[in-house]
Amino acid sequence: MVARIIDGKQRAAVLRRDIAIGVGHLRDETGITPKLATILVGNDPASAIYVRRKAEQAAAVGMQTESHRLCETIAQAELLSLIDALNRDGAVHGILVQLPLPQHIDKAAVLRAIDPAKDVDGFHPINVGLLASDDHAALDRIIPCTPMGCMMLLVDELGSLEGLNAVVVGCSNIVGRPMAQLLLQARCTVSIAHIHTRNLPDLVAAADILVSAAGAPGLIKGAWVKAGAIVIDVGINHVPNDDGHGSRIVGDVCFDEAKERASAITPVPGGVGPMTIACLLENTLRAASALQARDLPNSETRKKGTPQFA
Ligand code: GUN
Repeated sequence: MVARIIDGKQRAAVLRRDIAIGVGHLRDETGITPKLATILVGNDPASAIYVRRKAEQAAAVGMQTESHRLCETIAQAELLSLIDALNRDGAVHGILVQLPLPQHIDKAAVLRAIDPAKDVDGFHPINVGLLASDDHAALDRIIPCTPMGCMMLLVDELGSLEGLNAVVVGCSNIVGRPMAQLLLQARCTVSIAHIHTRNLPDLVAAADILVSAAGAPGLIKGAWVKAGAIVIDVGINHVPNDDGHGSRIVGDVCFDEAKERASAITPVPGGVGPMTIACLLENTLRAASALQARDLPNSETRKKGTPQFA
């Protein structure tokens, strides 16, 4: 079997087009233009590129943006005070603090300081808790962006995920843990693997759905992949080119081998990556709709509700 290559770039473009339409409707019906505020602390070049792309793509779908760049040595109190001001600013609907933060800053305290209704990353403990709950009526849940994008790709491929064996490799707050929660909600049987997992090849071999977010290039060998599985590779790893000149980006999965066994697979780059920013824009639109509905409870414009993958 040779796998279908899942085109995340194309899927993200469709999602952005729908979001741009949603932004237009919200503006026409309420006069509100969604606004995303980004905060970047320090000079990490990769983080700076990501944050710039987030702001550019928000602007491209008709949103307003506000970018804050703080120096590496900023006091935590000053960062918290900026977040407080953005929480209170009625024109701001989404707040994103780019991670990682410098060592001297307590990441958990910063994420807790963001108003959960404006937490477009879905990292606030209230949003983490709602995601882990079986309360499907909690439509105000915000879903972390990368797992939301993975779920969209999986649902496009499979329709229902019910009863399938899903294996998530990696247990980060940003991807692995929320991914496992979403797969569970979609009625998969879910296993989470991490660096202490002893039988990774056997676990992977049982996966109808494999999501790898370990950040380890070439970790998943093609021979481990179950014939016909769907493989979602979240890894973005920079490795030196074979000729010793420059570097390239690869995923966690040995793509050339795995595509001979899987039924569908995401490439790196061009798979999950483009979905992450598109889903951030989706969360920002939803946050703006929800906030205006909260402020004007009798308004005609109601949020569509969090995407349900079950
Ligand atoms: N750093 C790496 N991925 C992410 C993300 O999805 N959100 C934020 N805020 N920081 C990140």
